[in-house]
Amino acid sequence: AKVRYHKWEVKYQYKSPDCYQKLVITINGRSPGPTINAQQGDTVIVEIRNSLLLEDVAIHWHGIRQHGTPWADGTEGVTQCPIIPGDTFTYKFVVDKPGTFLYHAHYGMQRGAGLYGLIKVSLPAGESEPFSYDYDRSIILADWYHKSTYEQMTGLNSIPFVWVGEPQSILIQGRGKFNCSTPGTEADLCNATNPECSPFSLTVVPGKTYRLRIGSLTGLSALSFEIEGHNMTVVEADGHNVEPFVVQNLFIYSGETYSVLIKADQDPSRNYWASAHIVSRNSNTTNGLGIINYYPNHPKRNPPTSPLVGPRWNDTAPRIAQSQAIKALKGYIHTPPQTTDRVIVMLNTQNKIDDHVRWSVNNVSFGLPDTPYLIALKQNFLHAFEQTPPPEGYDAANYDIYSVAKNVNATTSNSIYRLKFNSTVDVILQNANTMNVNNSETHPWHLHGHDFWVLGYGIGKFNISTDPKKYNLVNPIMKNTVPVHPYGWTALRFRADNPGVWLFHCHIEAHFFQGMGVVFEEGVEKVGRLPTSIMGCGETKRFFKP
Ligand code: C2O
Ligand code: CU
Repeated sequence: AKVRYHKWEVKYQYKSPDCYQKLVITINGRSPGPTINAQQGDTVIVEIRNSLLLEDVAIHWHGIRQHGTPWADGTEGVTQCPIIPGDTFTYKFVVDKPGTFLYHAHYGMQRGAGLYGLIKVSLPAGESEPFSYDYDRSIILADWYHKSTYEQMTGLNSIPFVWVGEPQSILIQGRGKFNCSTPGTEADLCNATNPECSPFSLTVVPGKTYRLRIGSLTGLSALSFEIEGHNMTVVEADGHNVEPFVVQNLFIYSGETYSVLIKADQDPSRNYWASAHIVSRNSNTTNGLGIINYYPNHPKRNPPTSPLVGPRWNDTAPRIAQSQAIKALKGYIHTPPQTTDRVIVMLNTQNKIDDHVRWSVNNVSFGLPDTPYLIALKQNFLHAFEQTPPPEGYDAANYDIYSVAKNVNATTSNSIYRLKFNSTVDVILQNANTMNVNNSETHPWHLHGHDFWVLGYGIGKFNISTDPKKYNLVNPIMKNTVPVHPYGWTALRFRADNPGVWLFHCHIEAHFFQGMGVVFEEGVEKVGRLPTSIMGCGETKRFFKP
């Protein structure tokens, strides 16, 4: 196994990803940042210098389980103190699983300012994948706002609540196109011919098969991705091989990654549109457009057709159907434990706390403590966070998930779920109505430090006596991010076998900022000596006093 060393400088720069100029957080001058390429078993070392002038930073390696290095998870407030401006911090971890993963800021809402990228882990030399292709390519999808993340966060925290609304554009690999003649656009900041916003173009050789790795790091949007005239065969999800299935459009939620195979078998005399379209919200954002360029046509030549429209935003059925179609590939099935030790039901609701709009799990809205949990637990600073455990469920018999709650008030807490080491835990994510009538959103939930089995999806209220009988215990896919669909439920199972403290949260940036998350602890006594580089905040300030 090799060591893959990276040295990154993180800073603000003027950029025009969608033709409109604003401040973007870059890594070594780029957004998306550099792709980390590694082989299974390699050690990745990333030395980060925070040159943001006034903001702290932390970077999370999304989908990397961090076995034996829980302090390298990059979760500010959970596994480390933030990296302060001017400081350098080194992340070091092993990539123990092949597949497509992501990295992104995990401090405030910096991910939405452009601080993200891809991690590609290939098999060791000599081993081959259970599917074949000629070339390996990747893209990251994101949504993009013209308002700064500061302004967005201030709005989320304000009374009355100020919502930033739908994104101004969708970026494909950091490139989008905002219409500069939109009323109210400062003409001197928007330049439709800026090369920074020329569309992403993927050149293909006619007859060849491409593995396209697709990751989504949208702040808000659920997307449907499709390529004109080409079907896609899904073969990987979150680093696990999938029993192949063919789609015309791929639904992808923030935090998910997929690999699809695409054969360049269409009329080679022209180019084709690739498009990313918002679903699950009634959005007026124009579709993100890229070009599939058939060599030797000009890579930026627009296809002769009009761009694809995409599926109806409020049609939930095909999204649930895709979720249910994802199964582990035969020969690569990790059979789940057939029984569970603990079931935690998590009601997802939008709430109010002292007139602030918040999101909660079982009516508890999460907030990070000053001392990161990992440090607090290892050093026995048990006063650093609330010790009463969070609720294991909600009053299902008396709660109508289809209506606005009678009492929308919630409480806030930073308490955590402490799991028995090596036990099997089921989580049932239960969706409900928001504070607006006839509205339920899609929430992509991401678990740090583990992959979980996806046991099932359903519509309506989860029934604890009948629904578990329908679980897929034969070939469920393992993932690290999964959607809970509007008014639906999603059932997961995982083994609490990774010593550390792990966040589980909605990957919509604003939702997590407004409290939509929980924390699991398991086997923290087995965690080795913590590096002092993760300390310096909260209770650990005094460690560094002379
Ligand atoms: Cu990609 Cu805690 O998230
Ligand atoms: Cu959410």
